[in-house]
This record gives sequence, structure tokens and C-alpha cells, in this order.
Amino acid sequence: MFKTSYQKHKIIKIHFLYLMKEKIITDDGSFSLYDTSLNEYYHSKKGAYSESIHVYINNGVDYWFKNNPEKKICRIFELGFGTGLNALVTKRYAEENKLKLKYFSIEKYPLTNSQTQLIKPKCLSISEENIYNSSWNHELNLSSFFSIKKIHDDYFKFNFIENYDVIFYDAFAFHAQPLMWKNEALKKSINILNKKGVWVTYCSKSDVRRVLESFNVDVKKVPGFLQKREMLRVIKN
Ligand SMILES: C[S@@+](CC[C@H](N)C(=O)[O-])C[C@H]1O[C@@H](n2cnc3c(N)ncnc32)[C@H](O)[C@@H]1O
Repeated sequence: MFKTSYQKHKIIKIHFLYLMKEKIITDDGSFSLYDTSLNEYYHSKKGAYSESIHVYINNGVDYWFKNNPEKKICRIFELGFGTGLNALVTKRYAEENKLKLKYFSIEKYPLTNSQTQLIKPKCLSISEENIYNSSWNHELNLSSFFSIKKIHDDYFKFNFIENYDVIFYDAFAFHAQPLMWKNEALKKSINILNKKGVWVTYCSKSDVRRVLESFNVDVKKVPGFLQKREMLRVIKN
């Protein structure tokens, strides 16, 4: 009797863990994840890869370089490494444009190796594979244009000692993780942004915009990805 109920429990548990994250193929063919416990997607279902380019490359790092042409190197901080897609897209941008980028990304719940194998894009170069394979908490040069340091820690607890030129604020949405969009968390990210630095997110919620505006920064609503009317971009004065 004990054995039977234990086995039953184990099956449910495995089933539960399996259900926590599901791989999805988004409309542009790129992969993403759906977190069933949060009822939340990691990227837009309309196109994970294209959304990343729109929000974080075009409106983030590329915007920063265009407005700071004298700068030779850009330090990026990403909140939420997740599947590593933003890191991959940013590395490709750095190499295509021959711009030097140092990428820092924090993640509290790294994917397991098997989840990563399932979710990473096919046909990666060896240096792109290293985005996924590289160990946590060590900075690694992946090419002459791109280095990465993946930090395994909780954003709320992490003690930042450096500043960044561009911040990718890629937290789960407000309904799934409201604390990420409240004063304390947002202020912490603005505090580590350099002057003339660019902070971007896919989110356009007016409550979030109002909190950001209280920090004496320039907050702009800019066109969001595809049907999403708006997203937010902040410049630090
Ligand atoms: C929207 S996903 C990020 C997607 C990711 N940028 C990508 O390209 O795949 C949000 C991420 O934030 C992570 N996260 C949630 N709470 C966190 C915390 N307190 N500290 C660090 N990361 C956290 C989640 O585990 C998740 O991977």
C-alpha cells in the first residue's frame, strides 16, 4: 500500500516538473518557453527572435551606440538570462557590426542542461554554443567583440558593484511577477545605469511608467513589437 502511493506521488511529481516549462515554436520559427506554473511565456508568441531584435537590439544597444558614437565599448546588463536568446541575438549584433560588447546577465533559476539542449536554436557556431555551455559566474570572451558573464543569483539580493550602459529589463510580466515592476526593483536597475545609459523593456504598463518617471529620468513610450502598440525606453540624464 505504501509503495503504491509513493509511486503514484512520484509519477505526479515528475509529471509536475515536466509541466513546469513547455517548449513552444513562435511565429518566426524561433523557440521559446511557456512556464505553466506562472502561466507566462518567456517571449512573444508572435516571434521570440524578432521581438528580441526589436526591443533589446534596435531600441536598446543600437540606439545607445547611435547616440554615443564616441564610445568604443558597451556594457550591457540583462535581468533574466532565461533561454539565452537575448544573449545570442546581442552577440550576433556585436559581430555583424564589429562593436565591442560586454554582456552581464543574472538568472535565479537557470534551465537544466537538458532543458537548454531542447530550447537552444539549431545550427549554432562553436562560440555561440558557448553562450549556453559557459559556466556561471565567470566572464568569458567568446570572440574579439563579445564577452559574457552569467550570474547565478537573485536580482533582489545581488549586490551590484558596477554600472552599465544598457539594461535589458526582461522580467516576467506584471501579472506573473509584480514585485519586479515595483519601485524597489525598478530603482535598483536605474541606480546601476550609467549617465546617458539606455534602459529598455517590452512592458508598457502605465503604473510602471509612472514609477520610472519618479526617478528623474527621461521615459519614452516607443512602438512595441508587431501588434504591441508601445514599449518603454528610459534614458538617464
Ligand atoms: C521573461 S524571462 C527572460 C527571458 C530571457 N531574457 C531570454 O532571452 O530567454 C524572465 C527570467 O527572469 C528570471 N527571474 C525571475 N526572478 C528572478 C530573480 N529574482 N533574479 C534573477 N532572475 C529572475 C526567470 O527565471 C526567467 O528566466
